[in-house]
Amino acid sequence: MPLPNAFRRDGEPMPGHYPVELLVCPRCHLGQLSAIVDPNVMYTNYPYVTSPSDTMKEHFKRLWDTLNAERKINAVVEIGSNDGLLLEHFRNFGAQQVLGIDPAENLVDVCCIKRGIPAICSLFNREAAEETLDTMPAPIDLILARHVFCHIDNWRQFIDDVTVICSKNTVVCLEVPYAHDTVENCEWDTVYAEHLNYLTLQAMEHLLSDSALHLHHVVRFPIHGGAIALLLRRNDAVEPPSASVDEFLASERCSLEDWQRFGQKANEQIGALKALVKKLRSEGKRVVGYGASAKSTVWINAMGLRRSDIECVYDGTPQKQYCTIPGTDIPVRHEGAFYADAADYAVVWAWNFLSEVITKNKKWTEGGGKFIVPVPEVRILE
Ligand code: TMP
Repeated sequence: MPLPNAFRRDGEPMPGHYPVELLVCPRCHLGQLSAIVDPNVMYTNYPYVTSPSDTMKEHFKRLWDTLNAERKINAVVEIGSNDGLLLEHFRNFGAQQVLGIDPAENLVDVCCIKRGIPAICSLFNREAAEETLDTMPAPIDLILARHVFCHIDNWRQFIDDVTVICSKNTVVCLEVPYAHDTVENCEWDTVYAEHLNYLTLQAMEHLLSDSALHLHHVVRFPIHGGAIALLLRRNDAVEPPSASVDEFLASERCSLEDWQRFGQKANEQIGALKALVKKLRSEGKRVVGYGASAKSTVWINAMGLRRSDIECVYDGTPQKQYCTIPGTDIPVRHEGAFYADAADYAVVWAWNFLSEVITKNKKWTEGGGKFIVPVPEVRILE
């Protein structure tokens, strides 16, 4: 697979291809990639920006309400703060002090500064933790890392570095895709070079067993096909852990057999979508994609399709427009041109925002356009 977010314009050098092989621990059912790509290659120039969508705004509000109920949030540090969108919202909801940490120079330099969000441009490591303490001397109420922990190879080091900035009352929130949902909904297209880990609670408990932090509370959210917020506290915190931890542990379903079925079904889904696109093309229909997500890179490369099959993929992210889908000759076009281009079918590769995509393109479907949804089953929306 190419790196799924390596969106490049004509003439810009492309990083190479990497093996994507998922290994599963038979004991704690954690999934992990066998090959690790240097994070500097993946994240220094990063086109992924948090979607400024209604779905995301709703999620930020729910997350804020959950975390603010856990502890009144004044000072927040976000690890993997991307373009500062979440911190901007959290500041509007009432956080007095915010600080982001992110390695993407293109996002920190432009977006965070434009939003007035202070940010340290770095991968999160011991130096960044120490700089955080210098920059934000007040006790930190919340350390938040959304969809970051699954990108980390050395978990123990990460937890140790988090502990450096954690006071007795700090809540640490790691929001991650939940392996239980990944397996259950066959979200195989989320398996790519950036996602090194497919997390189970069993694995998390094991990891934390000899650390200074423990699992305090677990909350499930529907965002991105099913995520969990793991709330951690220092072992000397006074509040007792919530019953949610044991409840989740008891209901977690992703055995080795479940993971094997996941692999088989993934292959079936790849074959099903490829056959559908080929059939539609043979009938002279025009097929495009909607949402140049990393998932779209994974699907298109797995199916081995080209521009003659999928004309283009529409996306609202300026950083992706006028690039090609990594590993292919398929261009990314401005989302604003979708309606006027009037293709016959559009594969929704932003399926995690499906209801929003449907609502905003009602006119297109009323005019006869049809969406194809690839996950959990390949299907045409009628
Ligand atoms: P993600 O699933 O990795 O967040 O990627 C979703 C992609 O879809 C992202 O590049 C933004 C894009 N998108 C649109 O272009 N229009 C939309 O309405 C939505 C919700 C997402």
